[in-house]
Amino acid sequence: MRVDLYTNPHKEQREWLYQVAIQAGKADIAHKEAFDELFSNFTELLKDLHQHVRAEEAFVHPLYLAKNLFMADPLHADHEILELSLQDLSLQMQKMKREDSGEKRAELGLFFYRSFNRFISQYLEHIDAEERMLPFLWEAYSDEQLMLCILTYKASIGSDEGLIKIVSAFESIDKSSQQRLFKGFKQNASSERFGQFCTQLKVALPPNGYQDLTSSLL
Ligand SMILES: [Fe+2]
Repeated sequence: MRVDLYTNPHKEQREWLYQVAIQAGKADIAHKEAFDELFSNFTELLKDLHQHVRAEEAFVHPLYLAKNLFMADPLHADHEILELSLQDLSLQMQKMKREDSGEKRAELGLFFYRSFNRFISQYLEHIDAEERMLPFLWEAYSDEQLMLCILTYKASIGSDEGLIKIVSAFESIDKSSQQRLFKGFKQNASSERFGQFCTQLKVALPPNGYQDLTSSLL
C-alpha cells in the first residue's frame, strides 16, 4: 500500500459535508437552537476546509511544481473558485444569524441548503481530480518522500513528535526537498511554530547548514 496524501482526509471531508447537508435539509431553521447548531457545525467544517487547502498548497502542490511548472495550476484554480463559494455560504450564514424572524430565517435556510449542496457537487469534482493525480505522485516520488510531507505537515500544525522526527531527519534529505519542506512549513505554520522549527533546525544542522538553507531561499 503506497503512502496516500489524499484519500483519508478526503473521506473524512466527504462524510462531514454529507452530515452538514443532511442537517441543513432536516433542521427546522426557524428555531434558533436548530440554526445555532447548524451554524456551529458549518463554522467548524469551514475551518477544516480552509486548513486542508492551506496544507495542500504548502505541501502537495510543490510536489507537482518540482516536476512540472503548470501541473498544479488547475487544482490551484479550483481552490480559488471553491473559496468564492465558501465566502458566499459564510455570508448566507451571517445573514441568517442576524435574522430575528424565524419564518425569514427558514426561507434563507432553504436557499442555504440548495447552495450548500451545489458547493458539495463542486467540491466532489475537485477532490476526485486530486485523487486521480495519485498515480503521478507515486510514479514521481518514493513513499519516504511522501511521508516526509505528511510528517512536516503534522509538525507544522503542532505535533511535537512530528517536529522531533522531521528535524532529526532533515540533514539526510536532499537539498531541493529540504527547501520545499522548509517553505511548506513556513507557509502552513503559525509564526510561533515556524520559529520553533527554525530554532531546532539551527541546532540540528551542521555549522552553516541553516544559513546555507535559508540563504538559498532568498
Ligand atoms: Fe484541494
